[in-house]
Amino acid sequence: MSEAKPFRNRLNDLTPKDWLKFQKSWFIHNPPPRRKEVRRHPAKFPESMAQEFIEFFTKPGQMVFDPMAGTGSTLVASLRASRHAIGVELSPVYTEVARQLIQEETAKLGPPADGLRCEVITGDAARLEAINLPTMDYVLTSPPYWDMLHARGAQAQRSRRSSNDLDVTYSDDPADLGNVSDYGEFLDRLVEIYASLRPLLRPKAYLTIIVKNVKKGGRVYPLAWDLGMRLGGTYTLKDEKIWCQDDIRLAPYGLGNAWVSNTFHHYCLQFRWEP
Ligand SMILES: C[S@@+](CC[C@H](N)C(=O)[O-])C[C@H]1O[C@@H](n2cnc3c(N)ncnc32)[C@H](O)[C@@H]1O
Repeated sequence: MSEAKPFRNRLNDLTPKDWLKFQKSWFIHNPPPRRKEVRRHPAKFPESMAQEFIEFFTKPGQMVFDPMAGTGSTLVASLRASRHAIGVELSPVYTEVARQLIQEETAKLGPPADGLRCEVITGDAARLEAINLPTMDYVLTSPPYWDMLHARGAQAQRSRRSSNDLDVTYSDDPADLGNVSDYGEFLDRLVEIYASLRPLLRPKAYLTIIVKNVKKGGRVYPLAWDLGMRLGGTYTLKDEKIWCQDDIRLAPYGLGNAWVSNTFHHYCLQFRWEP
């Protein structure tokens, strides 16, 4: 009788059981309470969630990249997963917070994390050619959700406005894509940034882009779907994994009058560079 072939895993170091768990096309992840330093950033994703993606799409020692790193969730998660990581972030304020968190995390983890390259650079993701970057094994990132942070009505924004310590928008820099009011221009510029990553990627590397469709002025702008369509010309769109949050209070939008959802899900779009 022939022996069963040993499980050979080229992508990551997960067991078949953990691999299977990650394959479900949706998941619930309620972000843990945020630390004071990162609360000022209007829209970060949780490190615990980022770590699950990094551990699926890379092996220890590989290089992870986030071109819009915010307060560095991708970088901190990479350290915890023993991967190298580089981030680029436009805002020097968030870059500074990310640096501080990386430093603290490195000290907390000790060896081998202190031997990992983990660095955040203040810069414009639209001008990456100005930065000397190594080959990347994986990209995990999330863009501004168009200019949603400028929306007056959004409930979360209203409570941020009344606090001095919390930013309502990322910055007033014209290079900040969160300040581009025309949807077509925003989409063009974002697609160009993601397409420009291709020469940096190892062939067969994956990119995960976490994004939401955006509601504005009574209609939906399908940002996630538009990105899927537009980037499909550069990378292969593999699928989406839907991140649901079920700890947010429902608001009575349109009650008794019209259909307006409480949107508590994000799309984690999986692309692959398949030359
Ligand atoms: C959704 S947030 C990313 C949050 C990050 N994933 C985290 O967990 O902290 C988007 C980030 O993109 C940054 N950004 C906007 N335009 C940029 C550009 N042209 N180059 C680099 N970063 C940019 C914003 O400052 C913001 O921090």
